Amino acid sequence: MHDPFSAVRRYDPRAGTLSGAVPAERRLRELAGVFADDKAFAAACAAGNPLVYTVASAEPADGAGDLHYGIGTLYPGRVGAEFFQTKGHLHAMRDAAETYIGLRGKGLMLLEDERTGACTAQPLEANGIVYVPGFVAHRTVNTGNEPLVYLGVYPARAGHDYGTIAEKNFKQVVVERNGRVEVLARADVLASLR
Ligand code: F6R
Ligand code: MN
Repeated sequence: MHDPFSAVRRYDPRAGTLSGAVPAERRLRELAGVFADDKAFAAACAAGNPLVYTVASAEPADGAGDLHYGIGTLYPGRVGAEFFQTKGHLHAMRDAAETYIGLRGKGLMLLEDERTGACTAQPLEANGIVYVPGFVAHRTVNTGNEPLVYLGVYPARAGHDYGTIAEKNFKQVVVERNGRVEVLARADVLASLR
């Protein structure tokens, strides 16, 4: 029988591991359509299809009031000028919020409210917390030189809607230009690649 009190897990903020969880791996090829630069994406896939991130999740229970959580480890790297990033999603249960707690490294979260179209890039880094309200699409970007490790805690019934992002993508793109991190409009980046 399920014991609600045997709920202690250990995590390692350097390695991004969580006891009792087998991390799901996302390699570059699974991120087709995410990056702006198609040519750079194809070249990076052909050159070894690197591991971009892992997620080690815990799903203790699935009731209406329950929580799930996961440790994400997003590796440093770029496709063309664009930093490695997650697929990004909305929650299938649209009003489900999420708390992201930075454990290691340095990056940004792209947030986009699907109701208003408002978008922003907020810092996610060790010792920082980003609250993602409901109805807000979220994507994590590693802008540093070491893995970006974070803990995400969300309603058990949140679910993941990747399809909406696959169709529309995020309005903002995070690139390295002249040694600096810049958040640009996707439309401008696409125009400059033409
Ligand atoms: C869960 C959540 C995170 C992400 C993780 C990977 O709701 O937001 O645990 O799942 O950052 O990103 P995706 O799921 O977009 O591939
Ligand atoms: Mn989420």
